[in-house]
Amino acid sequence: RHPRIPLPVDLYGEHRRNSRGINFAWEQAIATLAEQMEEAGRGSWNFAGAGAESHEDLSSPANLADRTGRVDWCDPEAASTAVGRALAAQPDWDRRGAAERAGILEAIAESLEDNRAELMALCAREAGKTLPDGIAEVREAADFCRYYARQARDHLAGAIELPGPTGESNQLRHHGRGVFVCISPWNFPLAIFTGQVVAALVAGNSVIAKPAEQTPLIALRALELMHRAGVPRDVLIGMPGAGALGAALTQDPRISGVAFTGSTDTARIINRTLAERDGALATLIAETGGQNAMIVDSSALPEQVVRDVISSAFHSAGQRCSALRILCLQSDIADRVLTMLAGAMREVRVGPPGLLGTDVGPVVDSAQLEMLQAHCRRMDDQARLIARAPLPDGLPDGYWFAPSAYEISGIDQLEGEIFGPVLHVVRYRARDIDRIIDQINATGYGLTLGVHSRIDQVQQYVAGRVKVGNAYVNRNMTGAVVGVQPFGGEGLSGTGPKAGGPQYLFRFTTERTRTVNT
Ligand code: NAD
Ligand code: ALA
Repeated sequence: RHPRIPLPVDLYGEHRRNSRGINFAWEQAIATLAEQMEEAGRGSWNFAGAGAESHEDLSSPANLADRTGRVDWCDPEAASTAVGRALAAQPDWDRRGAAERAGILEAIAESLEDNRAELMALCAREAGKTLPDGIAEVREAADFCRYYARQARDHLAGAIELPGPTGESNQLRHHGRGVFVCISPWNFPLAIFTGQVVAALVAGNSVIAKPAEQTPLIALRALELMHRAGVPRDVLIGMPGAGALGAALTQDPRISGVAFTGSTDTARIINRTLAERDGALATLIAETGGQNAMIVDSSALPEQVVRDVISSAFHSAGQRCSALRILCLQSDIADRVLTMLAGAMREVRVGPPGLLGTDVGPVVDSAQLEMLQAHCRRMDDQARLIARAPLPDGLPDGYWFAPSAYEISGIDQLEGEIFGPVLHVVRYRARDIDRIIDQINATGYGLTLGVHSRIDQVQQYVAGRVKVGNAYVNRNMTGAVVGVQPFGGEGLSGTGPKAGGPQYLFRFTTERTRTVNT
């Protein structure tokens, strides 16, 4: 067994105590894991989905010559058979009860941790994830399993006795709704994939999991571990495929719900599909994009601001829905922060994701790279380049993009979410704080917000007025911890309920009340 990685909460605790920002135990653990990962990550992975039709050889975004594996894709025509299988298997699974299913989730958590080196290797090779990101993926996936297991035991197992003022006995029970389709993005190929699936399962649903087409191998390896931990094969069906497969699954009148994480545009399409199809009214849980801002007033500590901006905007190659996109600097402090930011960006190390010294890996595919390059061409014309991190010589042929920061004239210069390591900076005068807040709200997104200020009233005022799901004061704005910082947004950013929060499981259930005239 590999040594356990401390919980992120412990790491953050250590982090705060250490002036260098990195603690020794963490460095040691990560070096050991890097060795284990190299060992476990040799070779390639081959998987087929249910009813697979055509295969493809996949390569790594960090090195196009590195063959990561082969996947057998499912066509949309396979959707109907899979829904039929899942539908037939669901009642038995529901009858097994939440406590038994919670035990299986705990076994999945153990199994994810036991296989962490291999899963991290997959995250690095298939998704270009750095070592800290790979550790966080496994940690969060296991945390989702244990947290939802506990929630299910506490709230879904057994009947809830209700008052009987008329002499009748009344009970409320939670049941699975039926078949849930879980559709996930590539940017958290293990954590979000696992979180959706295990939540739907523990609530008593059967699941058809359609991972993002960029990251099927990680997902299918995780499914293999879930099956081995005790989830029956027809209760959890993996279907790697394109968006058209997701569309076919959501059109099926027999499904009861969709848990979706991805872009706002795709969520709209799924919402329309569910509304227009025949069959039972289906639940949609959608976690979508963000246009996230950080507001920094003149009382903030510039060193801390710069450290948190680098981590929030550029780490994970900016490919987090929570990532910082718009930095709003009060004029009095702006030049100082920007000078320091430009210096810090020169130190950001872009490189192969498996290396210990790498801060930023590649972006996930050619479409992402082209979108970011096109955006930077537009910004080069319309905005002032503050800094661009260096791209080292000799990188393998892959999807490399240099993190970049631009000063723009106003938030309205941006159209929608730019998903990658590009930071946009605007200046504001103290008296214009309300205008900045209104502009942030006017984007329509409401996912994360950063505030840097040493004045309590400013912290309260800003965090209270910007409409977002997760606000972070005087720290970075990514990496919500399961059960500690329930995550999810509002408006264009999602429907809720928050992943890793106390309400999440209920949306996957249906409630049944039984009244007995005693
Ligand atoms: P995407 O919307 O392109 O794809 C997400 C998934 O939807 C993929 O599995 C894709 O195959 C599937 N899909 C595409 N078209 C479909 C259709 N018509 N019907 C059903 N399924 C369909 O998103 P992406 O590029 O994979 O992910 C990046 C996006 O995800 C960003 O916008 C990011 O902000 C968002 N995201 C949000 C959260 C959150 O918690 N709010 C977390 C991670 C990522
Ligand atoms: N939950 C992820 C984060 O907080 C998206 O960064």
